[in-house]
Amino acid sequence: MHDQWQRKRAIIAELSRGGFISGEVLAANLGISRAAVSKHIASLEEFGVDVFSVKGKGYKLATPLSLIDEKRLKKSLNARCFYFDDIVSTNAFLLDHVNDLASGDICVAEHQSAGRGRRGRTWVSPYGGHLYASLYWQFSQGMAQAMGLSLVVACSLVTVLRNMGVAGVGVKWPNDIYLNHKKLAGVLIEMNGQADSLCNVVIGIGVNMSMPEQQSEKIDQPWSDLSELTEMPDKTSMMIQLQQQLVIDLEQFESDGLKVFKQRWRDVDLFDGQPIKLLMGDNVVEGICCGIDEQGAVLLETAQGVKAYVGGEISLRAQ
Ligand code: BTN
Repeated sequence: MHDQWQRKRAIIAELSRGGFISGEVLAANLGISRAAVSKHIASLEEFGVDVFSVKGKGYKLATPLSLIDEKRLKKSLNARCFYFDDIVSTNAFLLDHVNDLASGDICVAEHQSAGRGRRGRTWVSPYGGHLYASLYWQFSQGMAQAMGLSLVVACSLVTVLRNMGVAGVGVKWPNDIYLNHKKLAGVLIEMNGQADSLCNVVIGIGVNMSMPEQQSEKIDQPWSDLSELTEMPDKTSMMIQLQQQLVIDLEQFESDGLKVFKQRWRDVDLFDGQPIKLLMGDNVVEGICCGIDEQGAVLLETAQGVKAYVGGEISLRAQ
Protein backbone atom coordinates (compact mmCIF):
# COMPACT_ATOMS: atom_id res chain seq x y z
CA MET A 1 0.00 0.00 0.00
CA HIS A 2 1.20 3.52 -0.80
CA ASP A 3 2.95 5.08 2.20
CA GLN A 4 0.76 8.21 2.07
CA TRP A 5 -2.37 6.10 2.39
CA GLN A 6 -0.83 4.11 5.22
CA ARG A 7 -0.42 7.38 7.15
CA LYS A 8 -3.95 8.54 6.36
CA ARG A 9 -5.31 5.17 7.44
CA ALA A 10 -3.36 5.40 10.69
CA ILE A 11 -4.88 8.86 11.32
CA ILE A 12 -8.37 7.50 10.58
CA ALA A 13 -7.75 4.60 13.00
CA GLU A 14 -6.77 7.08 15.75
CA LEU A 15 -9.77 9.32 15.04
CA SER A 16 -12.13 6.32 14.93
CA ARG A 17 -11.60 5.74 18.66
CA GLY A 18 -14.07 8.60 19.15
CA GLY A 19 -13.77 11.99 20.81
CA PHE A 20 -11.34 14.77 19.98
CA ILE A 21 -7.65 14.05 19.64
CA SER A 22 -5.05 16.80 19.44
CA GLY A 23 -2.66 17.30 16.55
CA GLU A 24 0.18 16.92 19.00
CA VAL A 25 -0.96 13.50 20.23
CA LEU A 26 -1.66 12.34 16.65
CA ALA A 27 1.81 13.45 15.57
CA ALA A 28 3.44 11.65 18.51
CA ASN A 29 1.45 8.43 17.98
CA LEU A 30 2.28 8.34 14.28
CA GLY A 31 5.88 9.53 14.58
CA ILE A 32 5.38 12.45 12.17
CA SER A 33 5.33 16.25 12.53
CA ARG A 34 2.19 18.26 13.43
CA ALA A 35 2.45 19.97 10.05
CA ALA A 36 2.35 16.55 8.36
CA VAL A 37 -0.73 15.64 10.43
CA SER A 38 -2.56 18.77 9.36
CA LYS A 39 -1.57 18.16 5.70
CA HIS A 40 -2.97 14.60 5.83
CA ILE A 41 -6.18 15.84 7.46
CA ALA A 42 -6.62 18.50 4.77
CA SER A 43 -6.05 15.86 2.11
CA LEU A 44 -8.57 13.49 3.75
CA GLU A 45 -11.12 16.30 3.61
CA GLU A 46 -10.44 16.60 -0.12
CA PHE A 47 -11.28 12.90 -0.39
CA GLY A 48 -14.67 13.59 1.18
CA VAL A 49 -13.99 12.78 4.85
CA ASP A 50 -15.70 15.25 7.22
CA VAL A 51 -13.30 16.12 10.05
CA PHE A 52 -14.19 18.56 12.84
CA SER A 53 -11.23 20.72 13.72
CA VAL A 54 -11.62 22.73 16.95
CA LYS A 55 -8.93 25.05 18.33
CA GLY A 56 -7.65 23.81 21.67
CA LYS A 57 -9.37 20.41 21.28
CA GLY A 58 -8.00 18.96 18.07
CA TYR A 59 -9.66 16.73 15.48
CA LYS A 60 -12.71 14.46 15.45
CA LEU A 61 -14.44 12.47 12.70
CA ALA A 62 -17.85 14.03 11.96
CA THR A 63 -19.17 10.74 10.53
CA PRO A 64 -17.85 7.27 11.39
CA LEU A 65 -15.89 5.51 8.63
CA SER A 66 -15.57 1.85 7.95
CA LEU A 67 -12.77 0.51 5.80
CA ILE A 68 -12.59 -2.87 4.10
CA ASP A 69 -10.36 -5.50 5.68
CA GLU A 70 -8.40 -6.24 2.50
CA LYS A 71 -6.70 -9.41 3.79
CA ARG A 72 -9.94 -10.98 5.03
CA LEU A 73 -11.76 -10.07 1.83
CA LYS A 74 -9.09 -11.55 -0.44
CA LYS A 75 -8.79 -14.72 1.69
CA SER A 76 -12.55 -15.32 1.63
CA LEU A 77 -13.05 -15.18 -2.14
CA ASN A 78 -12.59 -17.80 -4.85
CA ALA A 79 -11.83 -15.02 -7.30
CA ARG A 80 -9.36 -12.18 -7.68
CA CYS A 81 -9.95 -8.92 -5.90
CA PHE A 82 -8.34 -5.62 -6.89
CA TYR A 83 -8.50 -3.28 -3.91
CA PHE A 84 -7.66 0.44 -3.96
CA ASP A 85 -7.76 3.35 -1.56
CA ASP A 86 -8.47 5.64 -4.48
CA ILE A 87 -9.45 4.96 -8.08
CA VAL A 88 -11.29 6.82 -10.83
CA SER A 89 -14.12 4.27 -10.92
CA THR A 90 -14.19 0.56 -10.07
CA ASN A 91 -16.30 -0.03 -13.21
CA ALA A 92 -13.75 1.80 -15.38
CA PHE A 93 -10.90 -0.24 -13.86
CA LEU A 94 -12.51 -3.59 -14.73
CA LEU A 95 -13.56 -2.40 -18.20
CA ASP A 96 -9.93 -1.45 -18.86
CA HIS A 97 -8.74 -4.93 -17.88
CA VAL A 98 -11.38 -7.27 -19.34
CA ASN A 99 -8.78 -9.34 -21.21
CA ASP A 100 -7.07 -10.34 -17.94
CA LEU A 101 -10.21 -11.13 -15.92
CA ALA A 102 -12.28 -14.20 -15.11
CA SER A 103 -15.98 -14.23 -14.23
CA GLY A 104 -16.40 -13.36 -10.54
CA ASP A 105 -13.32 -11.12 -10.23
CA ILE A 106 -14.00 -7.89 -8.39
CA CYS A 107 -12.61 -4.40 -7.93
CA VAL A 108 -13.29 -2.59 -4.64
CA ALA A 109 -12.26 0.92 -3.62
CA GLU A 110 -12.57 3.25 -0.64
CA HIS A 111 -12.85 6.36 -2.83
CA GLN A 112 -13.77 7.01 -6.45
CA SER A 113 -12.69 10.30 -8.00
CA ALA A 114 -15.26 9.92 -10.82
CA GLY A 115 -17.78 7.33 -9.63
CA ARG A 116 -20.33 6.73 -12.36
CA GLY A 117 -24.09 6.56 -11.87
CA ARG A 118 -26.88 5.74 -14.32
CA ARG A 119 -27.99 8.25 -16.94
CA GLY A 120 -24.61 10.01 -16.93
CA ARG A 121 -24.88 11.02 -13.28
CA THR A 122 -21.94 11.14 -10.86
CA TRP A 123 -21.99 8.65 -7.96
CA VAL A 124 -20.87 10.50 -4.85
CA SER A 125 -17.98 8.41 -3.44
CA PRO A 126 -16.39 9.88 -0.27
CA TYR A 127 -13.42 7.96 1.18
CA GLY A 128 -14.50 5.06 3.37
CA GLY A 129 -18.08 6.34 3.49
CA HIS A 130 -19.77 3.70 1.39
CA LEU A 131 -19.29 0.44 -0.47
CA TYR A 132 -18.05 0.81 -4.05
CA ALA A 133 -17.54 -2.42 -5.95
CA SER A 134 -17.64 -3.91 -9.43
CA LEU A 135 -17.77 -7.52 -10.55
CA TYR A 136 -16.72 -8.88 -13.95
CA TRP A 137 -18.75 -11.52 -15.79
CA GLN A 138 -18.42 -12.98 -19.26
CA PHE A 139 -21.48 -14.11 -21.21
CA SER A 140 -20.62 -16.53 -23.99
CA GLN A 141 -23.73 -15.91 -26.10
CA GLY A 142 -23.57 -12.15 -26.43
CA MET A 143 -25.48 -9.16 -25.12
CA ALA A 144 -28.90 -10.71 -25.69
CA GLN A 145 -28.06 -13.28 -22.99
CA ALA A 146 -27.56 -10.44 -20.50
CA MET A 147 -31.08 -9.03 -20.97
CA GLY A 148 -32.74 -8.67 -17.56
CA LEU A 149 -29.38 -8.94 -15.79
CA SER A 150 -29.87 -5.74 -13.82
CA LEU A 151 -32.97 -7.24 -12.16
CA VAL A 152 -31.00 -10.32 -11.14
CA VAL A 153 -28.31 -8.10 -9.60
CA ALA A 154 -30.97 -6.15 -7.71
CA CYS A 155 -32.34 -9.47 -6.34
CA SER A 156 -28.82 -10.51 -5.24
CA LEU A 157 -28.19 -7.21 -3.49
CA VAL A 158 -31.50 -7.17 -1.63
CA THR A 159 -30.99 -10.83 -0.60
CA VAL A 160 -27.61 -9.95 0.93
CA LEU A 161 -28.90 -6.82 2.67
CA ARG A 162 -31.86 -8.74 4.13
CA ASN A 163 -29.58 -11.62 5.21
CA MET A 164 -27.49 -9.03 7.05
CA GLY A 165 -30.54 -7.86 8.96
CA VAL A 166 -31.45 -4.78 6.92
CA ALA A 167 -35.25 -4.60 7.08
CA GLY A 168 -37.39 -2.26 4.95
CA VAL A 169 -35.22 -2.69 1.86
CA GLY A 170 -36.54 -3.45 -1.64
CA VAL A 171 -36.26 -2.61 -5.34
CA LYS A 172 -37.92 -0.07 -7.59
CA TRP A 173 -37.89 -1.49 -11.13
CA PRO A 174 -35.47 -2.00 -12.71
CA ASN A 175 -32.68 -1.79 -10.13
CA ASP A 176 -32.85 1.11 -7.66
CA ILE A 177 -32.53 -0.18 -4.11
CA TYR A 178 -34.58 1.73 -1.54
CA LEU A 179 -34.54 1.79 2.24
CA ASN A 180 -37.53 3.44 3.88
CA HIS A 181 -38.58 5.00 0.55
CA LYS A 182 -35.23 6.67 -0.15
CA LYS A 183 -32.45 5.45 -2.42
CA LEU A 184 -29.90 3.32 -0.59
CA ALA A 185 -27.98 1.70 -3.41
CA GLY A 186 -27.59 1.69 -7.17
CA VAL A 187 -26.46 -0.68 -9.88
CA LEU A 188 -24.66 0.36 -13.06
CA ILE A 189 -24.08 -2.33 -15.70
CA GLU A 190 -21.63 -1.58 -18.48
CA MET A 191 -20.66 -3.96 -21.27
CA ASN A 192 -18.57 -4.38 -24.36
CA GLY A 193 -18.25 -7.18 -26.87
CA GLN A 194 -20.37 -8.83 -29.51
CA ALA A 195 -24.11 -8.94 -29.95
CA ASP A 196 -24.08 -12.70 -30.46
CA SER A 197 -20.77 -14.06 -29.11
CA LEU A 198 -18.43 -13.21 -26.19
CA CYS A 199 -19.66 -10.26 -24.16
CA ASN A 200 -17.81 -8.65 -21.23
CA VAL A 201 -20.04 -7.30 -18.49
CA VAL A 202 -19.07 -5.12 -15.54
CA ILE A 203 -21.62 -4.87 -12.75
CA GLY A 204 -21.05 -1.83 -10.56
CA ILE A 205 -22.70 -1.55 -7.15
CA GLY A 206 -22.72 1.38 -4.75
CA VAL A 207 -24.29 1.05 -1.29
CA ASN A 208 -24.60 4.13 0.93
CA MET A 209 -23.30 3.26 4.38
CA SER A 210 -22.51 6.49 6.19
CA MET A 211 -22.99 9.72 4.27
CA PRO A 212 -20.84 12.69 5.30
CA GLU A 213 -23.00 15.84 5.52
CA GLN A 214 -20.98 17.85 3.02
CA GLN A 215 -21.26 15.10 0.41
CA SER A 216 -25.01 14.75 0.87
CA GLU A 217 -25.45 18.27 -0.51
CA LYS A 218 -24.27 17.02 -3.91
CA ILE A 219 -27.11 14.48 -4.24
CA ASP A 220 -30.25 15.62 -6.06
CA GLN A 221 -32.68 12.90 -4.92
CA PRO A 222 -33.86 11.55 -1.55
CA TRP A 223 -31.22 9.17 -0.22
CA SER A 224 -30.78 6.88 2.75
CA ASP A 225 -27.80 5.10 4.27
CA LEU A 226 -27.19 2.16 6.60
CA SER A 227 -26.20 4.43 9.50
CA GLU A 228 -29.98 4.80 10.11
CA LEU A 229 -29.93 1.23 11.46
CA THR A 230 -29.26 0.37 15.09
CA GLU A 231 -26.41 -1.85 14.01
CA MET A 232 -24.28 -1.02 10.98
CA PRO A 233 -23.47 -4.14 8.91
CA ASP A 234 -19.77 -4.93 8.56
CA LYS A 235 -18.57 -3.69 5.16
CA THR A 236 -16.09 -6.53 4.56
CA SER A 237 -18.68 -9.23 5.36
CA MET A 238 -21.17 -7.47 3.11
CA MET A 239 -18.68 -7.44 0.24
CA ILE A 240 -17.85 -11.15 0.70
CA GLN A 241 -21.53 -12.14 0.78
CA LEU A 242 -22.31 -9.94 -2.20
CA GLN A 243 -19.59 -11.43 -4.38
CA GLN A 244 -20.68 -14.96 -3.42
CA GLN A 245 -24.39 -14.28 -3.94
CA LEU A 246 -23.74 -12.65 -7.32
CA VAL A 247 -21.73 -15.67 -8.50
CA ILE A 248 -24.54 -18.06 -7.46
CA ASP A 249 -27.25 -15.93 -9.10
CA LEU A 250 -25.32 -15.15 -12.27
CA GLU A 251 -24.52 -18.83 -12.84
CA GLN A 252 -28.21 -19.66 -12.47
CA PHE A 253 -29.22 -16.76 -14.73
CA GLU A 254 -26.73 -17.90 -17.36
CA SER A 255 -28.06 -21.45 -17.40
CA ASP A 256 -31.82 -20.90 -16.82
CA GLY A 257 -32.53 -17.28 -17.77
CA LEU A 258 -34.72 -14.80 -15.93
CA LYS A 259 -37.75 -17.08 -15.51
CA VAL A 260 -36.32 -18.63 -12.33
CA PHE A 261 -36.07 -15.14 -10.77
CA LYS A 262 -39.71 -14.15 -11.35
CA GLN A 263 -40.88 -15.13 -7.86
CA ARG A 264 -37.77 -13.75 -6.17
CA TRP A 265 -38.35 -10.49 -7.99
CA ARG A 266 -41.91 -10.25 -6.62
CA ASP A 267 -40.51 -10.78 -3.10
CA VAL A 268 -38.15 -7.81 -3.44
CA ASP A 269 -40.34 -5.54 -5.63
CA LEU A 270 -41.50 -2.56 -3.54
CA PHE A 271 -44.42 -1.86 -5.88
CA ASP A 272 -45.79 -5.37 -6.43
CA GLY A 273 -49.61 -5.26 -6.51
CA GLN A 274 -49.63 -1.48 -6.15
CA PRO A 275 -50.98 1.27 -8.40
CA ILE A 276 -48.10 2.85 -10.31
CA LYS A 277 -47.46 5.08 -13.28
CA LEU A 278 -44.79 4.66 -15.92
CA LEU A 279 -43.30 7.83 -17.36
CA MET A 280 -41.99 7.51 -20.93
CA GLY A 281 -41.09 10.96 -22.20
CA ASP A 282 -44.41 12.84 -22.43
CA ASN A 283 -46.35 9.59 -22.19
CA VAL A 284 -47.77 8.32 -18.87
CA VAL A 285 -49.43 4.91 -18.37
CA GLU A 286 -51.19 3.98 -15.14
CA GLY A 287 -52.03 0.54 -13.80
CA ILE A 288 -51.29 -2.10 -11.19
CA CYS A 289 -47.72 -3.37 -11.04
CA CYS A 290 -47.74 -7.15 -11.41
CA GLY A 291 -44.19 -8.42 -11.75
CA ILE A 292 -41.86 -8.89 -14.68
CA ASP A 293 -41.80 -11.00 -17.83
CA GLU A 294 -38.94 -13.21 -19.05
CA GLN A 295 -37.18 -10.27 -20.71
CA GLY A 296 -37.26 -8.19 -17.52
CA ALA A 297 -40.04 -5.88 -18.74
CA VAL A 298 -42.32 -4.51 -16.00
CA LEU A 299 -45.91 -5.83 -16.24
CA LEU A 300 -48.74 -3.37 -15.85
CA GLU A 301 -52.36 -4.39 -15.44
CA THR A 302 -54.83 -1.89 -16.90
CA ALA A 303 -58.50 -2.05 -17.98
CA GLN A 304 -57.15 -3.27 -21.35
CA GLY A 305 -55.31 -6.23 -19.79
CA VAL A 306 -51.66 -6.87 -18.82
CA LYS A 307 -48.99 -5.16 -20.92
CA ALA A 308 -45.17 -5.33 -20.71
CA TYR A 309 -42.98 -2.22 -20.75
CA VAL A 310 -39.21 -2.17 -21.12
CA GLY A 311 -36.55 0.42 -21.94
CA GLY A 312 -33.91 2.55 -20.27
CA GLU A 313 -35.96 5.74 -20.66
CA ILE A 314 -38.91 4.51 -18.52
CA SER A 315 -39.30 5.83 -14.95
CA LEU A 316 -41.61 4.18 -12.46
CA ARG A 317 -43.51 6.20 -9.86
CA ALA A 318 -46.11 5.41 -7.19
CA GLN A 319 -49.56 6.71 -8.17
C1 BTN B 1 -27.05 4.45 -10.07
O1 BTN B 1 -26.97 5.57 -10.57
O2 BTN B 1 -28.07 4.11 -9.45
C2 BTN B 1 -25.93 3.46 -10.20
C3 BTN B 1 -24.79 3.78 -9.29
C4 BTN B 1 -23.64 2.79 -9.36
C5 BTN B 1 -22.45 3.23 -8.54
C6 BTN B 1 -21.38 2.20 -8.48
S1 BTN B 1 -20.16 2.55 -7.26
C7 BTN B 1 -19.15 1.26 -7.85
C8 BTN B 1 -19.27 1.25 -9.37
N1 BTN B 1 -18.29 2.13 -9.96
C9 BTN B 1 -18.84 3.18 -10.55
O3 BTN B 1 -18.20 4.10 -11.12
N2 BTN B 1 -20.18 3.13 -10.43
C10 BTN B 1 -20.60 1.93 -9.75
